[in-house]
Amino acid sequence: MSERIVIIEDDQGVRFFLEEALKGEGYSVSSFESYEDAYRSIGNNTDLVIIDINLPGMDGLSATTDLKKKYDVPILIITAYGTKKNALEAIKRGATDFFVKPILLDELKVMLKRVLGTRRLKKEVEHLREKELASHIFHGVVGKSLQMKDIFKDVEKIADKGLSVLITGETGAGKEEIARLVHILSKRRGEFVVVNCASIPDNLLESELFGYEKGAFTGAVQQKAGKFEVANDGTIVLDEIGEMSPYLQAKLLRVVEKQEIEHLGSTKTKKVDIRVVSTTNRVLENEIKEGKFREDLFFRLAQIHIRIPPLRERSDDIDVLVDYVLHNIERETGRVMTVSEDAMEVLTKYPWPGNARELIGTIKRASIMCDGDVIGLDDLPLHLRADHPLTTGSTYSDQSLDDAISSLEKGMILDALKKSQGSQAKAAKLLGISERSMWYRVKKYEIEI
Ligand SMILES: Nc1ncnc2c1ncn2[C@@H]1O[C@H](COP(=O)(O)OP(=O)(O)OP(=O)(O)O)[C@@H](O)[C@H]1O
Ligand SMILES: [Mg+2]
Repeated sequence: MSERIVIIEDDQGVRFFLEEALKGEGYSVSSFESYEDAYRSIGNNTDLVIIDINLPGMDGLSATTDLKKKYDVPILIITAYGTKKNALEAIKRGATDFFVKPILLDELKVMLKRVLGTRRLKKEVEHLREKELASHIFHGVVGKSLQMKDIFKDVEKIADKGLSVLITGETGAGKEEIARLVHILSKRRGEFVVVNCASIPDNLLESELFGYEKGAFTGAVQQKAGKFEVANDGTIVLDEIGEMSPYLQAKLLRVVEKQEIEHLGSTKTKKVDIRVVSTTNRVLENEIKEGKFREDLFFRLAQIHIRIPPLRERSDDIDVLVDYVLHNIERETGRVMTVSEDAMEVLTKYPWPGNARELIGTIKRASIMCDGDVIGLDDLPLHLRADHPLTTGSTYSDQSLDDAISSLEKGMILDALKKSQGSQAKAAKLLGISERSMWYRVKKYEIEI
């Protein structure tokens, strides 16, 4: 398909000359006398705008500013001899280049080839980047690592089976995202309801979940449906289930066993059809040992158990998450940004205690701090580097010596394991330690091979 060029020039002679010349080169050309006339013909599929500076109505400079705000289209300025200052101003406003009247056809052709060639390349790169990114987004959830791809597969398998799902993982690892995925893929027609079991006191949580009759307690001025009813035919997410009191654990067990509920202040039971997904960053098995969580409830809630590994154990997800954030910024603001190599290295090595949430927030803030379109080391918060002597070459940090040594040790072991494709024997050799001592450290840091 030929490239689409819009010409805006009020001098009929020049306009005619340009239009014929460019059509002769095989471009698809439309020309106008003023920006106001041309405006509606310009869009994201326009490949180039050629615009005169002196125009009736809005002048070429203001038009450049206006266009650049809306479209990512290259602009060439035509300027009369001796008004180079204007042309430079146009470039400041985002025009790609300018040429001076009288127009020399050969010069113009070369410039067009260059500008349109660059645009074509840029589009191709963008297209590839988008395709690559799209292949790692599953219903809005980002994941390129084998671990995340496996989770996607598992969710697909179990989503419409009606089994209860327990999702565990550190804070910010994406438990709620995966819960949403379970709901979407389940094709259950009802609502997706999230209840946080940690943020409200026990008696409030009870009335929130079960609903109540008028007069059931002081303040119950009218009947209210509980979240279990709202989630009927849908999915209820019991967020931070590990915080639930023994009393409510017992009540919950009855709901999941019998699929029926009673309002507070009523003895009438109501049938419900709900899929329960629970999430927690605690290790419930330990809570059970300590007598804080009911074992029978655990088995009811964890018919399927999905463990989301912390981001530092699936570092392949880091660059796609970064791309994903940058892509969203581009969609929202039109700003095309990238991350410098050294900044990317720091992002890949940092252990991300706040997981995906922390990474996403960091990139969003860095994009605001950043003056140009390349996020560099300087745009990243200091602690990403300061904690990690390895990434900065600095040997001082405000951690205790033991912590610093542990984090260095773990980082090096993970690196070596990656380089040796998970072979502990090879990794041990790389690090100059015995296999036995490697095995001990892998256990100590709970590294999953
Ligand atoms: N794989 C992912 N793809 C896209 N966004 C993600 C992903 N993982 C996490 N996020 C985003 O990071 C933030 C935190 O995710 P989420 O709320 O699912 O974490 P969580 O494990 O439930 O955390 P918490 O334990 O603190 O509740 C959200 O804004 C979420 O959209
Ligand atoms: Mg959550």
